[in-house]
Amino acid sequence: MKRISVFVLLMTCILVAGCSKNIYKRNGDVRSEDNGNRSSVTIGLSQIGSESDWRIASTDSVKAAFSVENGYDLIFDDAQQKQENQLKAIREFIDQGVDYIILDPIVESGWDSVLLEAKEAGIPVIVYDRRVEVDDDSLYTCWIGSDFHLEGKRACAWLSEYLKSKSIDREIKIADIQGTLGASAQIGRSEALDEAFRQNRNWKLVARDTGDFTTAKGKEVMNSMLKQCGDEIDVVYAENDNMAYGALEIMEQRGYKPGYDIDNGEILVISFDSSRNGLQMVLDGDIAVNVECNPLYGPRLVEIIDALEAGKEVEKETFIDEEQFSGIGYIGTIQVDGKPYTVTQVTPELLAERQY
Ligand code: AHR
Repeated sequence: MKRISVFVLLMTCILVAGCSKNIYKRNGDVRSEDNGNRSSVTIGLSQIGSESDWRIASTDSVKAAFSVENGYDLIFDDAQQKQENQLKAIREFIDQGVDYIILDPIVESGWDSVLLEAKEAGIPVIVYDRRVEVDDDSLYTCWIGSDFHLEGKRACAWLSEYLKSKSIDREIKIADIQGTLGASAQIGRSEALDEAFRQNRNWKLVARDTGDFTTAKGKEVMNSMLKQCGDEIDVVYAENDNMAYGALEIMEQRGYKPGYDIDNGEILVISFDSSRNGLQMVLDGDIAVNVECNPLYGPRLVEIIDALEAGKEVEKETFIDEEQFSGIGYIGTIQVDGKPYTVTQVTPELLAERQY
């Protein structure tokens, strides 16, 4: 009996030794190499929070991509909408000696010091979705994300085409529900609207406030805008789907009708993200136009990490391609800076296949 136990113990040791070997991480800690070709790659990922459907879809995408089965050891941190929590998480990732840091920054400013600490620790930082504004761009390895400014321009170009198609050339009063102030998604979309005001002299901004990209704040902001100037508003420019949901809920409660017929008192709602719920509202006629902001970053980030692991160069800056949707079929293309962009009409079939 004793001899069998010794044998089992010996075999277990041999097996364990065959499956893993110790390797040294950047900070001198030891990590073990998994069975198979390569050791698991440790990634510290700092996510902003869970403020929107977009964000939840984005989190699901990165968690699925950086799975243990795929050979990654993901340390995921939810910053609950606070930059100070993101800074703390990054410092913890540095202390833990992760192999890579992946960051979706809540706002653009305030990252120089912490990114310098990561650089000095020899840890590559990959920034995605929103951007960082730093003095020295060698502080991060690369960025991949949306062209938020273009998204806003596409929305405004559609509105201009729509008004032309209806021969509406009177003053158009627009209320802007902005995203989190200082976030790339807010900066780009608000700037595009400001440019459109300069280009279309009869478009007027009648209200502007931040709804922080959430349904709850979208409701609050829409409520006070409707109290302040509800009967004047022709267009609501909601800088994401969740704020559009909140705005639509309050509009309904206060007896305002969303739709395309602004000459008969309807309020035309513009939104961003094109999440499944957002597109359902397009199909229902509550949102007139919805510009996509694609949250499915998992596979894209895996590609970047795998390239870096293989010692390859990666693009410093990558813009992802995005779509645009409406409930009407007769504006199939819009032009931005001389370039055509397709506007797809939402159908039940399209919605059934929507991934997020
Ligand atoms: O950074 C992407 C934006 O942030 C999305 O438009 C929005 O829904 C999210 O909260």
